Amino acid sequence: MEETTPSLELTDDGSATLRHPFFGETYHSLRGAVGEARHVFIANGLAALDRDTVRILEIGFGSGLNAWVTLEYARGRNMGIDYTALELYPVASNVADRLDYTTDPLFAALHNAPWNTKAAITDSFSLTKYYTDATLPGNEWEHKNYDIIYFDAFAPDTQPEMWSPEMFARLYSALSPGGILVTYSAKGTVKQALRAAGFKVLRLPGALGKRHMLKAIKETEPTFYAKE
Ligand SMILES: C[S@@+](CC[C@H](N)C(=O)[O-])C[C@H]1O[C@@H](n2cnc3c(N)ncnc32)[C@H](O)[C@@H]1O
Repeated sequence: MEETTPSLELTDDGSATLRHPFFGETYHSLRGAVGEARHVFIANGLAALDRDTVRILEIGFGSGLNAWVTLEYARGRNMGIDYTALELYPVASNVADRLDYTTDPLFAALHNAPWNTKAAITDSFSLTKYYTDATLPGNEWEHKNYDIIYFDAFAPDTQPEMWSPEMFARLYSALSPGGILVTYSAKGTVKQALRAAGFKVLRLPGALGKRHMLKAIKETEPTFYAKE
């Protein structure tokens, strides 16, 4: 397995992010990595589900920050988490070691967990990281009935293939009825692609002063939209 060596940068809320050596993009908003993760994926995602056990799929494990803020949120609330994450460019361990989101050894446990197999990080938090290209269909991760998808790919202009109607249709199928997908982008083409895949799309206030983010819902009864 080939590892990637991104560089570290500081964001405005004092937390670190990474910059990908090939895409040239940062893994989080420069307004604040931790602030963005908590707003988009926890406050408007996990917390809004109001459930005791949750199956999560993350597109792009990267720095492990979203998994970490999830673990942090869930353990104070006795929530059971079955976390699945996909990653094509695993972050080199010497870079992950320098991320100072916490001194809790469980953060390192998230990074050190084996690939392509389920690992118990705590009694109530399991992690399955798949080393795979998320755009390739027909993989094991697609068959789990997730309650929520953290869609955290690089921006649509950089990786349009990740934000395609085909990709969202596969994610729609992988969600349980009533399941949701949350993402930081509120671009028009993203909304259209989500709707084309069958989602009901809501625009919410974005993180740290950004105007909008999206929450897409797999309704129990499918909605059909007129062509725009
Ligand atoms: C915006 S970053 C976010 C990463 C992570 N959620 C975090 O908080 O650090 C996007 C992530 O998607 C990963 N990625 C890019 N293309 C991918 C692909 N085709 N399949 C799976 N992961 C991919 C990148 O390596 C990167 O880790």
